[in-house]
Amino acid sequence: MNRTYKLNINGLDDKMEGGIPEKHIVLLAGTPGTMKSTLAYYFLLANAREEEVKALYLTLEQDRDNFMYHLKKLGLDDTAEGRMNLYDLSTTREEWMKFSQGAADESGTMDLETFKRQLETLKTAMGFDLLVIDSLPVVELMFKMKDPREDLFHFFKWLKQLGVTTFLITEMTQDSPKFSKHDIDFLADGIIKLSVVQMSPTKSQRQIQVVKMRGVHHTTDPFEFRYTPDGFEALKIII
Ligand SMILES: Nc1ncnc2c1ncn2[C@@H]1O[C@H](COP(=O)(O)OP(=O)(O)OP(=O)(O)O)[C@@H](O)[C@H]1O
Ligand SMILES: [Mg+2]
Repeated sequence: MNRTYKLNINGLDDKMEGGIPEKHIVLLAGTPGTMKSTLAYYFLLANAREEEVKALYLTLEQDRDNFMYHLKKLGLDDTAEGRMNLYDLSTTREEWMKFSQGAADESGTMDLETFKRQLETLKTAMGFDLLVIDSLPVVELMFKMKDPREDLFHFFKWLKQLGVTTFLITEMTQDSPKFSKHDIDFLADGIIKLSVVQMSPTKSQRQIQVVKMRGVHHTTDPFEFRYTPDGFEALKIII
């Protein structure tokens, strides 16, 4: 039987047959500040701690110090005895951007191949089973994709072959129902949406919704989403 990975969200795991099927590619989508990065790190860390899974988090935008400061405040600055690995490619990105302006513009190809090779090497060396790429729009930007729709399609195919369970963080805009650009919504195995909903003129609420999860009988209801000292929890919305 295929294994699943629990999100470790109290009140939600039991409404999605225990979690995310292995080797799924899941979009973690939301508007800015909806705790996408926090939930992605939390998911990896919980599985690294409790299931002894090896995990790799690639941050392409927010630098390590900034992210660790945030995680520390939430009590999530842990490496689960080295099983939880954070790689900061945000600095590399700046270097690559500088490099690209001089050389790679003509061909239009920034080094996505090197990035993929680097990940394959890490997979062999570390043997990680869970991966987060934070974020997909930055991958697109970083590697100057000429035809993002086609390039991202191939990137998805390549990720599938890598054989890991992946969370791709995507940005939503307030006024669009799309979870990502370039029709990626249809390629992903799963979509989890995080949002801040205005409940009344004076009250807003964080919410989480499993929009899609192939192969899983799950609720599509949105839930109030909270971080507590015991971790994330999903609560029935009371209007
Ligand atoms: N101690 C805390 N407890 C609960 N929530 C917090 C705490 N500290 C910060 N936050 C919330 O977490 C949010 C940032 O979380 P995170 O970086 O995971 O969001 P994000 O969706 O990844 O943001 P971005 O769009 O900038 O990448 C802040 O906007 C803030 O509302
Ligand atoms: Mg983030």
